[in-house]
Order: sequence, then structure tokens, then C-alpha cells
Amino acid sequence: MIKVDAVDKMNEEERLKYMLLLLKGQVGSEKDVLANISNATAIIKACVGDLNWAGFYLMKKGELVLGPFQGLPACNRIQVGKGVCGRAIEEGRSQLVPDVHLFPGHIACDSASNSELVVPIIKNGKAYGVLDMDSPSKNRFKDLHRVYFERIVDVLNQYTDWEKVTE
Ligand code: SME
Repeated sequence: MIKVDAVDKMNEEERLKYMLLLLKGQVGSEKDVLANISNATAIIKACVGDLNWAGFYLMKKGELVLGPFQGLPACNRIQVGKGVCGRAIEEGRSQLVPDVHLFPGHIACDSASNSELVVPIIKNGKAYGVLDMDSPSKNRFKDLHRVYFERIVDVLNQYTDWEKVTE
């Protein structure tokens, strides 16, 4: 069982480290995509403050389709190259956006979002989706967050059988 009260007393980096530790414990013995990424959203939400949305989009037949998330309902499909998520897939690298209102083509799913961090899920050169975090605060995400959320994706890549996701 996960103890989340502990995070209240932690600083930001301790929270991010704890998040990674919890994720490793949770997904280390599981390969199922939905089980692992659902737990990842719960762990992120429990450990990281000031988020209004955290979740996944998965690549299905060449477009991003909404997966498990924590937050308000979001757009179902995003084309590669569109929005912050589609850009992360197109460029094959994380997108750290301090102010979403200044990002050309940003897709506003929740009007509360002001900054965003998107990490692409790429394994053996193939894109499987993105991990997307939104915050109501501008400049919420720093390079430190990018590093830890990229580690989250590394851990998921290590254990998850992305090929088995249902179309
Ligand atoms: N803002 C994203 C869309 C997804 S929502 O934030 C959940 C984008 O521009 O790709």
C-alpha cells in the first residue's frame, strides 16, 4: 500500500524522487499497459502538487488517443504535429511550455491550464504515446520536472508491453 501523507513534508525534488520510487514498486512486476499507466497517473497526482491534469495519450493508427488521466474530461484525439502533445511526437522530444497561451497551436482542453510538460513515450525508435501534465500556474515545470518525468517514461518503457494495447 502506498503512503501518500509523507509527501506533505517533502520538498519538490524529494517528491519527484518519491514518485519515481512508488512507480518502480507499482509497475515492476506488471506488463499491462492500462494497469501501469493508470497507476502512474494516480502516483503523479498523489506526489506532485499544483496540477490540474495528468495523463496519457496513446498512439493508435497514427494519431494520439486519450488514455487514463486525472483531471477534467479532455479531447479524445490529437493529430501528430498538433498542439503540445502532437509536437512532442513529431519532434521526438519533451516539450516544456512555461505559458501555454504563447504556444502556437496549443489545444486548450481545460481552461485552467497555464503551463504544460509533455514527454513522448518512445521505445526502440517507435512512438507509443505521450505523458502530459498541465498546471494552473505559469512556469510550473522546470528542467528538474522534465528530467524526472522522462525517468517515469523510462521506468514505464522498461516494464510495459506497449504492443499489447487494444486498438
Ligand atoms: N494541451 C494539450 C492537449 C491535451 S490537454 O492538455 C489534456 C496539447 O496542446 O496538446
